[in-house]
Amino acid sequence: STQVLKCDPSSISFPSATSTMPTISSPETQAVLEAASHDLVHNLQPVVFPTETVYGLGALALNESATSKIFSTKGRPADNPLIVHVSSFPMLRTLLPKSYTLPPSYTALMKHFWPGALTLLFPRDPQIIPSIITANQPTVAIRMPSHPVARALIAVANAPLAAPSANSSGKPSPTRAEHVQRDLDGKVHLILDGGACGVGLESTVVDGLHADGAIRVLRPGGITVEDIERVLREEMQVPPKVMVHRRDYRDEVMEAAPTTPGMKYRHYSPAVPVYLLYTSSPPPEGKQLVHSSTFFASLRETGDGNRPLKVGILSPNDSRLGTCVLPTDGLEWTRFSLGPTAEPAVAAHLLFDGLLTLERQGVDLILVEEVQEEREGLAVMNRVKKAAGQSVWIRFNEINGSG
Ligand code: TXA
Ligand code: MG
Repeated sequence: STQVLKCDPSSISFPSATSTMPTISSPETQAVLEAASHDLVHNLQPVVFPTETVYGLGALALNESATSKIFSTKGRPADNPLIVHVSSFPMLRTLLPKSYTLPPSYTALMKHFWPGALTLLFPRDPQIIPSIITANQPTVAIRMPSHPVARALIAVANAPLAAPSANSSGKPSPTRAEHVQRDLDGKVHLILDGGACGVGLESTVVDGLHADGAIRVLRPGGITVEDIERVLREEMQVPPKVMVHRRDYRDEVMEAAPTTPGMKYRHYSPAVPVYLLYTSSPPPEGKQLVHSSTFFASLRETGDGNRPLKVGILSPNDSRLGTCVLPTDGLEWTRFSLGPTAEPAVAAHLLFDGLLTLERQGVDLILVEEVQEEREGLAVMNRVKKAAGQSVWIRFNEINGSG
C-alpha cells in the first residue's frame, strides 16, 4: 500500500544556490526525509516527491535496478530518457566528463535559473551515466530543483535522483500529492506531500551543446523563452541564437529544432476527451470557423440523450469562453478558471490541476480555451495541444449575449 507523508517545505532552507546541505528546523521533516532517503538508497525503491514544477517519481540515478522501477511503475517507454536531479554544483560535477568545461551560455543560464525549472543537456560520460537513463542518447539531461523538499531529499540521500513526472505514462502530470495518490495508488511505497507545486508545468529542456552555440529549447516549460533570451542578452557579449520548435496556428514551422524524445508520445491526457477551442486565432486552411451555438448543439448530440452531457470548461476567467453565457438545455457545465488572460503563469500553475480536477468531478469531456503563446503561455499551449484529441475554431454569436 501507499504511504503519504506530509513534508513541510517551510521547515527546510538552503542558505544559497551553492549550498550543499539544507538547514532543517523541524524534527518531523528531518525524520520524513531520512525515511524517504532510506527507501531510495537502501531499498532501491522509487519515492514520489514534490518539485517546484510537478511531482516527481525519483530513484537513484546511478543505479540501474532502481531506475528500471521508474519505467515499470509509470509504464514508460524505454526510449524516453529521464532527467537527473542534483542538489548542488559539486554533485553536478560528479556527473560530467572529467575534463569538461561548461559553455558560457550554460554558466549564464545556471547563474539565473538554477536552482529552478530549467533542465540542461550535458555530454554523457558512459562510465558515469547508465544508458537506461539516457535511452542511449549521447547526452544526459540534468536540473537542480528549487523546491526545498526535492533539493533536501537529494542532499540527504547524497545521490542524484532520476525523476520523471509522477504520473502513469500519457496522463497529465501531477501538481498535488492527491493527484499522484489517485493515479499511482498501490504502485508506489511512499509519497512526500509538500503541497501544490508552484510552477505547475514541467521544466524547460534546453540543448546548448551544438557547435553553432545556439540554444535549442526542446520542451517549453516553467522558465520562459523570453527570460532565457533576456538573460543571455544581459550576460553575454555575443548572445547565442535561441531556437524554439514552435508552430503557429497555420502549422508552419517558424523556427525548427528537434524536440525532445518524450514529446513524440501522446501525453497529458485525462481519461475523458479534451477539445482545444480556438476563440481568437483564425482557422488554418481547410478548417472551418464554427458558430458557438452550432458547436454547443453538436456537443449536445454527443450525449446519449438520457441525461445532460457534463462538460468541463478550462479557460481564463476574462476570455470569450470564460465570460460567455452557456446554454443549459441538455448540457451541464463545470468551470475551472485558468486565471486572468494577462497572467499566463497562473494558467501554467492551474492547467494540469484543472484537467485532473474536472476528470475527477466526472465530466464527460473537457473544453480548453486557447491562450496566447507568449511567456508561460507557450508551454501551456504545448501541453494543451498534446492533451487535445480535437481542435475547434469558434466564433461567438453576437445575439445570445456572449459578446
Ligand atoms: O519539471 C520536470 O522536468 C519534471 C520534474 C519531476 O523535475 N520532470 C519531468 O520529467 O518532466 P519527464 O520524464 O516527464 O520529462 C523529461 C523530458 C522528456 O521530454 C525527455 O524526452 C527529455 O526530458 N529528455 C531527457 N533526457 C534527454 C536527453 N538526453 N535529450 C533530450 N531530451 C531529453
Ligand atoms: Mg512527464
